[in-house]
Amino acid sequence: MQYGAQFGGKCGKSVIVSTWEADPICAMATTFGHSAFLVLVVLSIFPEYSEQLQSSQVLTLLRIKQLLDSPAVLSSWTNDTDFCNTEPSPSVTVVCYDESITQLLIIGDKGTPSLPNNFSIDSFFTTLVKIPTLKVLTLVSLGLWGPLPGKIERLSSLEILNISSNFIHGSIPREISSLTNIQTLILDDNVFSGELPNWLSSLSVLSVLSLKRNSLEGFLPESLGSLENLRILDLSHNHFLGQVPDLGSLTSLQVLDLENNSLGPQFPHLNRKIGFIVLRKNKFSSGIPSEVSSYYQLQKLDISLNRFVGPFPPSLLGLPSITYLSISGNRFTGMLFENLSCNSGLQFVDLSSNLLTGKLPNCLLSNSKDQIVVYSGNCLDTGDKSQHPFLFCRNEALAAGILPHHRKLEKGSKMVLALSISGGIIGGIALAGLAFVIARRVHLKQTRGTLPPRSIAESASTGYNSKLMSEARYVSQAMRLGALGLPAYRIFSLEELEEATNSFDTSTFLDQGSHGQLYRGHMKDGSLVAIQCLKMKRSHSTQSFMSHIELISKLRHRNLVSALGHCFEYYLDDSSVSRLFLIFEYVPNGTLRSWVSKRGARRTLTWAQRIAAAIGVAKGIQFLHTGIVPGVFSNNLKITDVLLDQNLVAKISSYNLPILVESMRQVGVQISSGGSKELNKARAKYEEKSDVYDFGVILLEVIVGRPLDSRDEIDIETEQLQVVITADNAARRSAVAPAIHNGYSDESLKTVMEICIRCLLKKTEERPSIEDVLWNLQFAAQVQDAWRGDSQSSDGSPVSHVQPLRRQPNLH
Ligand SMILES: *[C@@H]1O[C@H](CO)[C@@H](O)[C@H](O)[C@H]1NC(C)=O
Ligand SMILES: *[C@@H]1O[C@H](CO)[C@@H](O)[C@H](O)[C@H]1NC(C)=O
Ligand SMILES: *[C@@H]1O[C@H](CO)[C@@H](O)[C@H](O)[C@H]1NC(C)=O
Repeated sequence: MQYGAQFGGKCGKSVIVSTWEADPICAMATTFGHSAFLVLVVLSIFPEYSEQLQSSQVLTLLRIKQLLDSPAVLSSWTNDTDFCNTEPSPSVTVVCYDESITQLLIIGDKGTPSLPNNFSIDSFFTTLVKIPTLKVLTLVSLGLWGPLPGKIERLSSLEILNISSNFIHGSIPREISSLTNIQTLILDDNVFSGELPNWLSSLSVLSVLSLKRNSLEGFLPESLGSLENLRILDLSHNHFLGQVPDLGSLTSLQVLDLENNSLGPQFPHLNRKIGFIVLRKNKFSSGIPSEVSSYYQLQKLDISLNRFVGPFPPSLLGLPSITYLSISGNRFTGMLFENLSCNSGLQFVDLSSNLLTGKLPNCLLSNSKDQIVVYSGNCLDTGDKSQHPFLFCRNEALAAGILPHHRKLEKGSKMVLALSISGGIIGGIALAGLAFVIARRVHLKQTRGTLPPRSIAESASTGYNSKLMSEARYVSQAMRLGALGLPAYRIFSLEELEEATNSFDTSTFLDQGSHGQLYRGHMKDGSLVAIQCLKMKRSHSTQSFMSHIELISKLRHRNLVSALGHCFEYYLDDSSVSRLFLIFEYVPNGTLRSWVSKRGARRTLTWAQRIAAAIGVAKGIQFLHTGIVPGVFSNNLKITDVLLDQNLVAKISSYNLPILVESMRQVGVQISSGGSKELNKARAKYEEKSDVYDFGVILLEVIVGRPLDSRDEIDIETEQLQVVITADNAARRSAVAPAIHNGYSDESLKTVMEICIRCLLKKTEERPSIEDVLWNLQFAAQVQDAWRGDSQSSDGSPVSHVQPLRRQPNLH
């Protein structure tokens, strides 16, 4: 076998010294220094091992010959053969010790057809187990067929079993698990089927497991990761699928060959002393993790014909041991430079059919005969026809990011109805004088006693009848404290508003929403406000609005653009409401987008400030969901609806307010159509998670620092994140907003990326709760903080001494 020469060293130790040379694997271990020593030992003690075989074992051997239909290679075996003292040949070897056979090696001619119908593998093994002293058994190309009999367990001394190139079918029998001395198990080129059993982990000294070219299928068992003596794992040419289990603790693993399966998507986790990695022809679709660049013993890396994406790390070419590198047929991007350095021992490099740009490194242009370099089908600047134009690679790289599924729009988001006070209540430009009393820490714990039971909160989200509204009075104190710095909610007079807006002069006009206009008002006390004007249809009394007004008046939180008051305007003839004005605090500092994504005049947020802003938005959402009863869900949040105040505190300006007449009708319909408690509960959960998704989109933009408006852009960026999160920090760095390049902790960034990806999961139920989101962001902030304080290291290296926060929702 091809890896034997490099890695045969270890298996010599447990095989009896005198028989060492006949061991098919160890015989190849000639490159190891200690083999010379072993040979000497063999020679010096050889005379002692002139054996006379027990006659019963002689009979067994002759019976084996008969059962194998007397293959040509066994023609020399007769009744008179002195089995223990015959020169071993490459195809037949019998080794004895203490009058017993310890090794039996029979290798038939390549391509031997299966034995005739009257062959019984069961009788064959019944005969074989009469030599229970066997430590090494090699039966290759003999035409054996049938399922491997469980009675093989009686060969309990077996250390090496190689039954390659036969026609053995069925599953790998469980009885193998009792062969606890087995170190080498080779079942290559048979027709074994079924899954790789989990009991493999009981083979604690197993060091070579080779199952290539069978019909094995299913997921790989986690227990593979606990075979701590494993040096060679070859599962190539089967039908395995799914994620490769974590093999990082296999410190002896030197060869991993998984070629031609359906494994993926993540690059397997391995120890850094690995020497050979073959992942060719699978379904890997991640990036190359950064640690691969530290595999200093890696000689061969073949990951061709997968769907790998992300930047190709040129450092792979310079790995100190690398001789063979193929990344052909993936979607690697990135620019190569002429001045890249390569390992001088590189013999084979295949970069073909990727999306690489730039110049072919000079070190690959040696034209030396011992070096083969293939690079066609990229967008390299080589001046020959083998390359695509540059734009091809750029477009393909973009297309590679497009996910097949589009997000299904939450239909439920329309159900809670109502007007989302749209378009950003305030598109603020001018500076305002809203004195902000900051950051009195609120310990929710103290106030938890006043919270209503959660079940009420959940069942209540259906509609807004007066009974439920009365529950709204149980709003936690945290909410009121959270809105510190705001004047008390009050009723404004129309005169006051007209004065503040110069009778709604166009110069004070800020925005036109779908239900009314937004004006900026300058109050007598000098403060600025935003005034939302909603036109009402006739025949609605003040009374019909009161419950909604009451709710709005409760929605006050540090991270919400909060309502300061309202004002009704009546029709003169029938005293029904003609216009409703809602007065909100004026948030002067522009949208979150303008602080994270727009290049130009304004300064942009640092990484720490970005996390802080995201925490603010998450707290705002948490408050909408749980800080008030009934909760406010499906808020259709957008980054342009998050505003920053003069202290860069993020405030959500557009949330799902149950205000409009039309909406109220819908509420009515909904209530009458009923819906079980369970249903309502499920819907509340769903709507909660739709806000989490929207938050994920906001967070994504905060990370990448580019406006993301279309679903495609979002999907592309999400996939990109998924790629770089497992890649190296250079890859992550390339994915984030340039503005934060000089001041972030990589661990903090990874945490935020991870929670972002989870928020954007397609399956609603897999998204994290808002508490979970908050917890992770706060952890990231803490890590970032510690990193900054940590000796000013600016290399983005992770900080390891940070204690994670205790998992505890409702942190304030
Ligand atoms: C099994 O034995 C055959 C015959 O000696 C050999 O060619 C093959 O390489 C062995 N398989 C492994 C994985 O060592
Ligand atoms: C199988 O049948 C052939 C003849 O058809 C015979 O020579 C051989 O001995 C039989 N083998 C066994 C194992 O019975
Ligand atoms: C290699 O060249 C690129 C551009 O040609 C340059 O940016 C880079 O610093 C160079 N690297 C080294 C190690 O010289």
